[in-house]
Amino acid sequence: MKCIYWLFLGVGLAACNSVTTKKNIKNDYPIIPQPNALTITDGAFILSDKSTILYHPRLESEANYLSDLLTGIHIDTYPATKQGEPSVNTIQLSIDEAVEHKEAYSLSITEERIMIKAATPTGIFYGIQSLRQLLPETNTKKLSIPTCRISDIPRYPYRGMHLDVSRHFFPIDSIKEYIDMLALHKLNKFHWHLTDDQGWRIEIKKYPRLTEVGGYRAGTAIGRAGSRNAPYTYDSVRYGGYYTQQEIRELVDYAKKRHITVIPEIELPGHSRAALAAYPEYGNTSGPFSVARRWGIFEQVYAPTEETFSFLEDILVEVMDLFPGKYIHIGGDEVLKKEWEESSYAQQLIKDQHLQDEEGLQSYFIQRIEKFLNEHGRSIIGWDEILEGGLAPNATVMSWRGEAGGIAAARQGHPVIMTPGAYCYFDYYQVDPTLHPAEPVNGSDRFTSIEKVYYYNPTPDTLNTQEANYILGAQANVWTEYMPTWKRVQFQVLPRMAALAEVVWTQPAKKDWSDFHSRLQALIARYDQLGYHYADYIVNQTDSLAVKNP
Ligand code: ACM
Repeated sequence: MKCIYWLFLGVGLAACNSVTTKKNIKNDYPIIPQPNALTITDGAFILSDKSTILYHPRLESEANYLSDLLTGIHIDTYPATKQGEPSVNTIQLSIDEAVEHKEAYSLSITEERIMIKAATPTGIFYGIQSLRQLLPETNTKKLSIPTCRISDIPRYPYRGMHLDVSRHFFPIDSIKEYIDMLALHKLNKFHWHLTDDQGWRIEIKKYPRLTEVGGYRAGTAIGRAGSRNAPYTYDSVRYGGYYTQQEIRELVDYAKKRHITVIPEIELPGHSRAALAAYPEYGNTSGPFSVARRWGIFEQVYAPTEETFSFLEDILVEVMDLFPGKYIHIGGDEVLKKEWEESSYAQQLIKDQHLQDEEGLQSYFIQRIEKFLNEHGRSIIGWDEILEGGLAPNATVMSWRGEAGGIAAARQGHPVIMTPGAYCYFDYYQVDPTLHPAEPVNGSDRFTSIEKVYYYNPTPDTLNTQEANYILGAQANVWTEYMPTWKRVQFQVLPRMAALAEVVWTQPAKKDWSDFHSRLQALIARYDQLGYHYADYIVNQTDSLAVKNP
């Protein structure tokens, strides 16, 4: 069969001579996430500056991306024409509309040529990511790439990483690097947590005080004080920053070229103290409020008035203009109800709208926002608290307090993204901190090892087949209270992001921890090549205290 296949492609018999016993997946094909079908063949393609990239006219962006990845060699790119195409020594990027799944790809590497085929540019991009991981890390003028055939398709459509830029702020170039990190791991959703009590980070033209005032706090809590019932102490360094609309547009475009959708999160009705510091008139009390200097949850939440809804809708109009994707994340988590309990306006609204209680009011709040966004062709995602008081009709639930919220939502026929803390909170320690006191300070003692992440299955066994279809995928969350530097962010997420990648891409039957761990060594060499920081002691499994402390 193999020979017939190759003859069909007109390549000849060379590749059929023998299926090697010398090469193996772990050492020679260290792709993460593990492709769902990979056949090893004997031989190698030699890439040199005499090679060319030949692309379908729709794939110019992908061809340029690939040629930019090949930093040591200059390779020309050409749009494919019917005549005069070179037949050997090419990397061909080809659209095959017969392929049904829009993220699937095939990658065939023979001694003559490399061929990536997919129905869409997105599939081609994933083929390029696999090819990239087969390149040697060295930048020599000739690169030897082992021959193989891959046919691959992701397990879930939603493969996400979140980043909180409110607790700590990272410049736009760091966010672009984050996008590149996601792309390397074939992740396709970036959930950008742009607003919270400790800082508002997105320029809104109609309400400039959101960033002028809400973008900065007067100081920041020091160390772990407060989280162990010790009194807080603060520095007095003004801290903050925000992204201009121009920067955001550039970032969204940068992500689009890497086939990543950016999902902005605008927190409501809670986690809104920075916004209320800027515009106290939308709070339940007269204020004044300040941008929070410490971590945790605060009583200040939006008042459910018509004025507040107009304010939020104005903001969302600008947000929708910046982010063309389907989803807007509206937060919805950890809404303290004290202010609503004490507000005569909120209490009257509960009566007028025949709501049960403050949870009903929270649901009313979310449903109004959902209706507004639905009318503009968008869909909401909310943290699992949006189940309380009744789910908004078209909402997608992000299950973070374990899986119970996700299970309940799937049973109600709502799409679900799994992000349970125990597996998906990459701010947690990576090893047991009592055994590894050199781990950099963190907010809680919980830890999630890379192995634990690796074994996570986002589709709970308790769901029947129909319910399981509502699980869109999974995402890791990165809350940055204790991540003041970009290096620290990278240290927290790498290499756990690699384990997540395999969770959301690879079929469970294809997963194997010890095989993954072997393949990880090559990915780590690539992190080094790219200058990414990571928790190296996890990778080496030395269990030593030699933490590369950021
Ligand atoms: C969350 O961690 N508060 C969603």
